[in-house]
Amino acid sequence: MPNVTVIGAQWGDEGKGKIVDWLAARADVVVRFQGGHNAGHTLVVGETTYKLSLLPSGIVTGTLSLIGNGVVLDPWALRDEIARLEGQGVTITPDNFGIADNCPLILPVHRELDGLREAAAGSGKIGTTKRGIGPAYEDKVGRRAIRVCDLAHLTDLDPLLDRLCAHHDALRTGFGEPPVDRAALVAELEEVAPFVQRFAQPVWKRLREIRQEGARILFEGAQGVLLDVDHGTYPFVTSSNTVSGTVASGSGLGPSAAGFVLGIVKAYTTRVGSGPFPTELDDETGQRLGERGCEFGTVTARKRRCGWFDAVLVRQTCAISGVTGIALTKVDVLDGFETIRICTGYQLDDRQLDYLPAAAAEQARCVPIYEEMEGWNGTTRGARRWADLPAQAIKYIRRIEELIECPVASVSTSPEREDTILVRNPFADQN
Ligand code: GDP
Ligand code: IMO
Ligand code: MG
Repeated sequence: MPNVTVIGAQWGDEGKGKIVDWLAARADVVVRFQGGHNAGHTLVVGETTYKLSLLPSGIVTGTLSLIGNGVVLDPWALRDEIARLEGQGVTITPDNFGIADNCPLILPVHRELDGLREAAAGSGKIGTTKRGIGPAYEDKVGRRAIRVCDLAHLTDLDPLLDRLCAHHDALRTGFGEPPVDRAALVAELEEVAPFVQRFAQPVWKRLREIRQEGARILFEGAQGVLLDVDHGTYPFVTSSNTVSGTVASGSGLGPSAAGFVLGIVKAYTTRVGSGPFPTELDDETGQRLGERGCEFGTVTARKRRCGWFDAVLVRQTCAISGVTGIALTKVDVLDGFETIRICTGYQLDDRQLDYLPAAAAEQARCVPIYEEMEGWNGTTRGARRWADLPAQAIKYIRRIEELIECPVASVSTSPEREDTILVRNPFADQN
C-alpha cells in the first residue's frame, strides 16, 4: 500500500497542518517522526480552528495518530494540548493515539536551559521557541535522556539521574542557577507518569503490524528543510532532522516506508526567529504579505518575517528531501499584487550562485536575483478547480514548477480544508 510523507520545504509554517488534515481522511494512520511542541499547525474545519503542536494532525479526523521515537515529548505540554482538544470535542483515547515508548522526554530543566542560553547568546541568539527542544535532543544524543519507558520504573532512576544531573548541574552553575532539584523532578514525573503510560507502546511494532495489513501511512513532518540541523541555515535551525529520510529512524520503519514525498511550499517565503533570509522584505510589501497571510507564529505569536518566493531554496530543499511533488499553499495571499517577484539566483560578491552556500556568513551576503511577473486581477481565494484561477495565477504556478524542477500535486487557496485544487492524489498515484 502506498504511504505519504509530508514535509515543509521552506522555514516551516508552509501549511503542513491543513494538508495533513486533508490527507488524514484518506489515511489509516498519521505518524509524527521528529520535532516536538515547537511545531504549530493550524487546521480550519468549517467554523472551528484547531491548533496542534505535538499531536499528529490526524487526531482531528479521528484517524489513528502515533508519535514516533524521533519526537521529543514534553508530557505536561501533551496533557495540556489533549485537554484543549478534548474541550473542542476531539476524542483522544489509547484506541486512536499512541506514543513510542523509546521517545525521549523534554524536562523542565531543558526548558530552563533553552531560555538561559538564548538570554546569554547576544548577537548569536537563535530565536528558539524556548520549549527545550535543543537541550532535550542534546541529552538524547549525550545518552542521558529520560524516556517514556522509564516512567514505568521511576524507583530505578538513580543512575539516569546521576548522569543527567552531573551534566546539568555543571551548566547551571555556570549560569548562576541552583542545581537540579532531583526530588522535585521525580515528584513531577510520578504525577504525570500514569497519564503518559496509558498511550505508551512499541510504535515500531505497531506500525509493522499495520503496514503488513496493507494500511496507508501518512508521515507528518514538522518545521521545514531549511530548519534541518544538517541541511538548514545552520546554526539558525532546530535540533532535529526535518528531511524526509528521518521517517525511517524517527518511526522505526525502513527507508522504503516514506512513499510519496509531498513537499509543502508557500507561494512566498516566511521565517520565524533569527538567521539569513535572502528575499526578506523589510518594507510595505513585506508588511502586506504578513497582513494578508496572517503571518503570526502559532506557538509564540511572533510576527513572521516575509519575503518573495525563493526558487533557489525550494529547488534545493526538494532535491535534498527527494520530493515527489509539491502542495503549493497560500496562492490567494498574492491576489491583488500588481507585480510579483521570484528569486532565481544569488549574487555573492562577484559570483552568481544557483544554490545556497553552507556558510552562514555567505548566506547572509547573498543578494537575490529576481525575475518579475505580472500579478493577476480577480481572486484565487477558495478556488477548487484550475478553471477558477486567473490565467496569470496559473502562469505563476507553472513558472514555480519549472524553476524548482518539481511538479505541483495540489494548490491550496484558503485555510479551509476543502479549498484545494487537486492535481495528483499522493495516495492514489505513486508512479
Ligand atoms: P504549518 O506549521 O506548516 O502547519 O503551518 P501553520 O499552520 O503554522 O501556518 C499556516 C497558516 O496558513 C495557518 O494559519 C493556516 O490556516 C493558513 N493556511 C494554510 N493554507 C492556506 C491557504 O492556502 N491560504 C491561506 N490564506 N491560508 C492558508
Ligand atoms: P512548524 O511545524 C517555524 C524555529 C524557531 C527558531 C528555530 C529553533 O509550525 O512549521 P527550536 O525551538 O526548534 O529550537 O527553535 O526554529 N522553528 C519554527 N519556525 N515553524 C516551526 O514549526 C518551527 N519550529 C521551530 O522559530 O528559529
Ligand atoms: Mg506552524
